[in-house]
Amino acid sequence: MKINVLTLFPDMFTPLQTSMLGRGLEDGKWDLNLINFRDFTTDFHHHVDDTPYGGGAGMVLQIMPIQKALDSLKNKGRVIITAPQGKTFTQQTAQSWSKEETLTFICGHYEGFDERIYQLADEVVSIGDYVLTGGELPTMSMIDATVRLLPGILGNAASPVDESFAQGLLEYPQYTRPEEFNGMKVPSVLTSGNHQKIDRWRRKEALRATYLRRPDMLANYQLNKEETTMLAEIKEEETN
Ligand code: ADE
Repeated sequence: MKINVLTLFPDMFTPLQTSMLGRGLEDGKWDLNLINFRDFTTDFHHHVDDTPYGGGAGMVLQIMPIQKALDSLKNKGRVIITAPQGKTFTQQTAQSWSKEETLTFICGHYEGFDERIYQLADEVVSIGDYVLTGGELPTMSMIDATVRLLPGILGNAASPVDESFAQGLLEYPQYTRPEEFNGMKVPSVLTSGNHQKIDRWRRKEALRATYLRRPDMLANYQLNKEETTMLAEIKEEETN
């Protein structure tokens, strides 16, 4: 997968070149192309923004440098603008984007985009209902969530399937050594060696975590017969 990022701050993108994603870059599993759209300005001072028509505070990003930066790309693929007014990015978005050959992100900064810039994009996406100073951190989050789903990025190929959101539930709790720490014990079922029981416990605890912390997710989840029984048990246990 090739990812282009149009940004005024290419130096911010070191986190994506670290750890597992960094190794993936070195191994050629994906490619990151950072483009500073200030390089596409034509005026002496290299302005990328100007005051808003109609007056008001702040500056607005101009369309011309962004359009030129996009035009310089041989293949843009899916063009994404990150902005708080976009639709919310989810695990499903990451899954769908991970099947694309090329993605191009446009990161805003300052007060906002000239409205005509939105016409250059296939979608406008937000990472949540809060406002950041720029699109760089949202873009990095979205790239991380997408690229980690590509084959060969994570060490354990099975892990993206089990994790939170992939199945519509939060993840079950995990433990490692020591078996007891400051009086806190690992649930005995996990050391029992009974894999059928462990499997049931994990499915039930994933349901419990979702029921307690994200009931909104549970409302959209189709429970099977055994899960219906488990949820009844959980409700009983949690009221006691
Ligand atoms: N730019 C500023 N805030 C943002 C947000 N919440 N999501 C995406 N892009 C943004």
